[in-house]
Amino acid sequence: MTIEIVDHTGGSPKIENFSKDRFVDPEYVDREWQHVWRSNWLVAGLVSDLEKPGDYFVFDMAREQILVTRTSSGEVQGFFNVCQHRGNRLITSERGHAANFRCAYHAWTYSIDGDLTAVPYKERFSEGVPCERALKKVRTDTWNGMVFVNMDDEAIPLLDFLGPLVDHLTPYRFDQMTLVEDQTVHLECNWKAVVDNFSELYHVDFLHPQHRRMVDCCNDTVHLFPHGHTGLAVPGATFNPRFPVPDKPTDIHRAQLLQLGLNPDDFVGRVPEIRRAVQKQRRQTGRDKGFDYNAFDDDQLSDVWQYNLFPNVILSFTPGHCWLMRVRPHAKDPAKCDFDKLSMVLFADPSIAQSTVGQKDVVHQSTDGDTDSKRTQRTHLGMDGAKPDDYVRPVRDVFSYSEVIAGNKTMTDTIDQDVELLGNVQAGMSSSAFESTWLNDDEMRVQHFHNEVDRHLDG
Ligand code: FES
Ligand SMILES: [Fe+2]
Repeated sequence: MTIEIVDHTGGSPKIENFSKDRFVDPEYVDREWQHVWRSNWLVAGLVSDLEKPGDYFVFDMAREQILVTRTSSGEVQGFFNVCQHRGNRLITSERGHAANFRCAYHAWTYSIDGDLTAVPYKERFSEGVPCERALKKVRTDTWNGMVFVNMDDEAIPLLDFLGPLVDHLTPYRFDQMTLVEDQTVHLECNWKAVVDNFSELYHVDFLHPQHRRMVDCCNDTVHLFPHGHTGLAVPGATFNPRFPVPDKPTDIHRAQLLQLGLNPDDFVGRVPEIRRAVQKQRRQTGRDKGFDYNAFDDDQLSDVWQYNLFPNVILSFTPGHCWLMRVRPHAKDPAKCDFDKLSMVLFADPSIAQSTVGQKDVVHQSTDGDTDSKRTQRTHLGMDGAKPDDYVRPVRDVFSYSEVIAGNKTMTDTIDQDVELLGNVQAGMSSSAFESTWLNDDEMRVQHFHNEVDRHLDG
């Protein structure tokens, strides 16, 4: 059993630990705002929300809001969502389409390119109204279906920031996936506690016992990248070798096998062979159904990858689906944050399908929770093959974590378990009896992430 750590930074990773201040001290919130949030590329949203000129969304990022739109020339461009007359928030709806952006206060009007185009009673401005009172631009770029913004005009280009991640992730066509669920939960913990939670598998055996029945958390590969990004590949369609080999397929294996048209009874006494069978079958049937798996090796057809984009995005994905998770800090309170989860699936491409697109078989990848009971109904909408004709972009569902605890809302069994726990982590870290972390080697991604936060805070 071994966890392989691949350090792409050229360094030699080691555990150093860190004090708890960063989770509980309001002074950290100010420093992080200046040195982390204002100087890094941040995922603002999805390109798919900006199909045509005038489509827009608002990225609500603690102390700032960024209005992202598609301009008249077809570019994706972000602006600070602030009217340049007296500073009113310009756009108050989360998403939509506009012919222009008109301030509700005194009707100053800006084009979708950000230019100031109308000022009522302009003659009353004895100094005139300079055209520089246009909307203030934010650096904006796109990659693989995601819109990124950076509030620092001097920052390195997006592709340099992503570095080797680009090569790792490009085969996964997030840009061709379709959003099927959009959720935000208000959490009562520091934003970094959420990133930490999605940076290690040490807790999985204990907090998520259902994973024993489908993934091997003992033989994963950890990647440490420049600029604080990290990655992880976990073998799926298998079992946890810390526990006895199941003598017959578990409930989760059964679901995986049935989805691929394989008979679970054929694997009684042969559970270690399931992973290879799943890989083979998925490749064979993929083309028939309209899924192009040519860019993926066999392991990628059964395994779950989880890559964290510094500072605040967690991508958990297979070739057929992606959870884009993002944590946004509170403007002032270190013990609060918002956690977004966007579930996307890859619908079949009819031009690839050899015969049976639309048939009710399942080829969708979902090794990270096939039988996650609450999730099945919600995020596997792509499993029929083709995109439904009546597809409508889901409305964002916003709720508090107490609603998850009460069972009124769910983000899947696994993430609910994390969400329910995180408030207690924050409360515990606030205790006078807790001073600093004590990490193990399996928590190297946690260390790597905090090292990068420190690098920024230290200037
Ligand atoms: S604040 Fe926007 S028009 Fe006055
Ligand atoms: Fe977890």
